[in-house]
Amino acid sequence: MCGIIGYTGTANAIPKMMKGLSVLEYRGYDSVGIAAEQGSQTKIMKCKGRISVLEEKLRETPFEISHCAIGHTRWATHGGPSDKNAHPHRVGAVTLVHNGIIENDKSLRAALSEKGVSFHSETDTEVAAALINDFFAQSGDPVASIRAAMEEMKGSFAFAILFEGHTGEVFAARRGSPLILARGTDGYYLASDMTALLPFTKEYCALKENQIARLRHGDAKIMLEDSSKVDPEWNMTTMTPESAQKGGYSHFMLKEIHEQSGAAVKSVSPRIDANGLPDFSADGIEKDFWKDIQSMQIVACGSAMHAGLVGQRLIEDLAKIPVNVSIASEFRYHPPIMPKGSLVVLISQSGETADTLAALRYAKENGIPTLAIVNAVETTIAREADRRIYTYAGPEIAVATTKGYCTQATVLWLIAAAIALATNRIDNAQTHSITRALTEDVPAAIENMLTLENQYHRIARGLINHEHVFYIGRGMDYALSMEASLKLKEISYIHCEAYAAGELKHGTISLIEPGTPVLAICTEKDLFEKTESNIREVRSRGAQVTLICRNDLPIPPGTADETVLLPTTSDAATVFAAMLAIQYIAYETALLLGCDIDRPRNLAKSVTVE
Ligand code: AGP
Repeated sequence: MCGIIGYTGTANAIPKMMKGLSVLEYRGYDSVGIAAEQGSQTKIMKCKGRISVLEEKLRETPFEISHCAIGHTRWATHGGPSDKNAHPHRVGAVTLVHNGIIENDKSLRAALSEKGVSFHSETDTEVAAALINDFFAQSGDPVASIRAAMEEMKGSFAFAILFEGHTGEVFAARRGSPLILARGTDGYYLASDMTALLPFTKEYCALKENQIARLRHGDAKIMLEDSSKVDPEWNMTTMTPESAQKGGYSHFMLKEIHEQSGAAVKSVSPRIDANGLPDFSADGIEKDFWKDIQSMQIVACGSAMHAGLVGQRLIEDLAKIPVNVSIASEFRYHPPIMPKGSLVVLISQSGETADTLAALRYAKENGIPTLAIVNAVETTIAREADRRIYTYAGPEIAVATTKGYCTQATVLWLIAAAIALATNRIDNAQTHSITRALTEDVPAAIENMLTLENQYHRIARGLINHEHVFYIGRGMDYALSMEASLKLKEISYIHCEAYAAGELKHGTISLIEPGTPVLAICTEKDLFEKTESNIREVRSRGAQVTLICRNDLPIPPGTADETVLLPTTSDAATVFAAMLAIQYIAYETALLLGCDIDRPRNLAKSVTVE
């Protein structure tokens, strides 16, 4: 995934590009570049490395004031990180930046080479520039050239484009990758997401699939596929620059861990009526919708899929309907049997994950109703699903999700209650106890767990000198272990495996040796005894055990080297408390190791390529 930005107006564009790119860096940070109009010319400066490298180059060779520019921060897909593969790319009269992947770039490159085009990079983006330029050379019309090229290109793209001879004009187009237009007092902007434009304006309009936009001083137009032109419909974002900044925390991840108690409440309280019962009517979902669901397919990636595993247990236990959880990138190659009455639920924090979007489109092509649980509003998955429920967690900047995952689980818990109530599996009183737990016990439990940072720090010290760590648990605790394992490895780079506690002895226990850290999670009362025996198995082989366990159990002395106690005011409180603990342990471990916690190597916040 990459970040693109553009501006045209009365102010100097260069500082705006650099400011916006510094916010977009979380989307990809292996190379960076800008292109800016300098009189009738367009000057490009780009390089491998982070924004700071480009800033240094600009100090050495400053641009003149410019009123029209585009910029890009890259997460490499076609061609490794290098100066020549960095964006922007220029071919002939066309200079552009791109987020996405042109899947038929090889055949297009070959055809254009036949026509005498010579390429200087390995990127699909340069091919896109050459294709648009080829059409522009024939028509001299930027919009017609972009539209013609879009007909030829397969895959996903969000472009910002400058054309020679069209001074002060920035063109944009998108398919499958996000693109936001924005209107400020000093001109028009575009970016991959709104956080980059918060320092300049709050008025935005999300460009829709296959739309082209033309921005110029004093005028913005959207060109539809039927060649008609419309004015953008401007909305006011509720985000603030502060909400996209760190708010005094040392890392976005820590800020977002601390935001979870509030985010958990925000994600469910708008969907609970005065009687304490689930009510999704504000989301356009009527109560009757829930009673007709015979089975559910949850489809997602990474942590979102792990939230789906939590939801699977809740919905099956409460609503007694079969729930299948699929990894999105596997889903359409071996789709589960989906009889009449199935509902496909797509979970995505960013709303732009290509694997999840592909699964959504597969479900729709096969006539299966879809519901998206998404955090980033007006994103592609949210827009294309038949129904959507926003998690309202606010902007999540850290690559490693915390509040995004937590609020996906709270919404799934509320959906479980809504289905169970609609099908008379539970009564009003039982439902009310669930919604009360979600709005009262869960935030209290999260706040309680935030006070244990010294214990998390101590546990982290026991992990940092090891190459391999194991999380184990049964039932819901196995689902939590999956997320715990991903959190730890993605930010600390320590190899970590999640294992069903009862399964370890069937082979993997051979990897346990003296000192191997094993963290056992136990939120399910009935499963403690079994998990405890698994702990004894690994301890007898010398494992260093941390137990993350509910506080109402008779834990025999010496069961673990370290025990994190979880509140048990309700089942929900215990589960979300465990989530907090595993997130904070990962954070403290990465902190001790000096890792780049908000932007871990090789990762991007939203993976918009398959
Ligand atoms: C989460 O910590 C990971 N960075 C990653 O697994 C993420 O959950 C996954 O890529 C799905 O992203 P999405 O929720 O934006 O679709």
